[in-house]
Formats: sequence, structure tokens, C-alpha cells
Amino acid sequence: MSAHAQNRRITVPEIKAHKGEKPVVVLTCYHAHTARLLDPHVDILLVGDSLGMVMHGLETTLGVTLEMMITHAQAVMRGSSHALVTVDMPFGSYEESPSVAFRNAARVLKETGATAVKLEGGVAMAETIRYLSQRGVPVMGHVGLTPQAIHVKGGFRTTGRTEAEWPAIIADAKAVAEAGAFAMVLEGMVEPLAARVTQEVSVPTIGIGASPACDGQVLVLEDMLGLNPNPPRFVREYAKLGPAIEQAVKDYAADVRARAFPGAENVYQMKKAQ
Ligand code: KIV
Repeated sequence: MSAHAQNRRITVPEIKAHKGEKPVVVLTCYHAHTARLLDPHVDILLVGDSLGMVMHGLETTLGVTLEMMITHAQAVMRGSSHALVTVDMPFGSYEESPSVAFRNAARVLKETGATAVKLEGGVAMAETIRYLSQRGVPVMGHVGLTPQAIHVKGGFRTTGRTEAEWPAIIADAKAVAEAGAFAMVLEGMVEPLAARVTQEVSVPTIGIGASPACDGQVLVLEDMLGLNPNPPRFVREYAKLGPAIEQAVKDYAADVRARAFPGAENVYQMKKAQ
């Protein structure tokens, strides 16, 4: 019987068991209606801190707060019952020390009911990942291009373009896996490096702009639905909802202006005539 038929959520060991077996399907999700639509079809709903840009119009993820993450994660939990919900730890909520990270991650799990958290960083975050995993907080890692480090790196660029970069990135991925992460996002990574990392770590790698060599894929929902006017180059748009929404709004505005809008009065008249 599938996890969905049993009406229970996918678990962390079930995600780990995908390694070398079947690809892990992940999408970002920030609100209840979309959670309901995605839930039967994905393994993991990621409440990513990309919600800062997508939902709140911020320039980067740095301004996202723990409260924002909790509010959106609560909505996603209310809209879902099957997928494993993972919540991003926002910038400033986990880097200071393992105990600060634990306090904030425990708050996320307690206040949302989500199963896991995700945090960015490799070797530097291994101690924190170990601390959380050993205390009941499942952690998804995130290595390669790490958007919260934008100011340190001076921008976003694909990682692994030169082989000189590879050893540090491989060391990051191994440190994250060995510290107890149950999966890790590989973001913005050239294919041969993503393939090498995927081969060398024991947990599923989830790629975003990191080639099909990974054990699974994640996309920002609004990017793949065609709602982002400037999507990243690697994104395949599976729908063009931007133009569809604009057309629907134009049609609505025309109806309202033509007084062709079926308001309560019209519905009442229609019912009487039946
Ligand atoms: O914040 C986010 O949506 C993410 C994904 C892009 C992996 O971290």
C-alpha cells in the first residue's frame, strides 16, 4: 500500500531509501491551496526561504525571518497530509552555534508540525547538523551555490566550473552526509561534479540547476508554473500561468466595466426563473 493510501506522511527513512532506487520529487511550496494540489504528487514539499522573493518581493533571502518561515510552513502543513514537509532555516537563525540552531529548529518543528529543516553550508555547518540530527531534528543539507552567502561570494554563479573548486565542494557534501543529514540540495553545480558528489555520498542529492545526475530534483513552484518573469535559465516551464492569470484578470475587468458581472442579485433572479 502506498504512503498516500495509508494517509500518512512520507518519513525520513523512506526518503533515504530512494538513494540508488528512485528519484526524489521535490517542489517548493509556501501556501495551503498549492500544498493541496502538490501533495499527492511529490515526495517532499520544501518551504524554502525563496519565499522571501516569491511571496514578499525581497531582493535576496537574507531578510527572511523565522516567523515568516513558520507562518508559511503552518499553511503548507494545513494543505497537505502525504508529503514530507521540510522548512528552510533562514539566515541568522542557525549559524551562531549548534544550540541556537537547535532552539530555532525545535521551534519550527513544534509550531508547524513539519518533519525536517534545511540549512545551507558544508564543513562549517557539519557540527550543527550532527547536533540537530542527534537530538531529533532531521536535517536536509544544501551545498554548492548557497544563496544566503550572496554577499560573501559577490553574487550567484554556478559552482565547479573549474576542477580546482571540486575538492572543497566534495568535502562539504561528505561532511554534511557524515554529520547525519538525510538528504542534501546541490544547487548551481556543473554536471560532472554533481555526478561525483552523488556517487560519493550515501544520502539522496536533490539538484536544482545541477543536472539530471542527482538523485532527485527540486524547482521553485512559481518558476516552473511560468509565474516568474525572469526565471533562472535552467528552469523548464511546465505551464504559462503568468499570461493565463493576466488574461483572466483582463476578462474580469472587462466584465465588471460592462456590468456583466454575475453578482448576488443576478444569481437570485436566475434561481427565481428556474
Ligand atoms: O529556498 C529555496 O527555495 C531553496 C531551493 C531553491 C532549493 O532552497
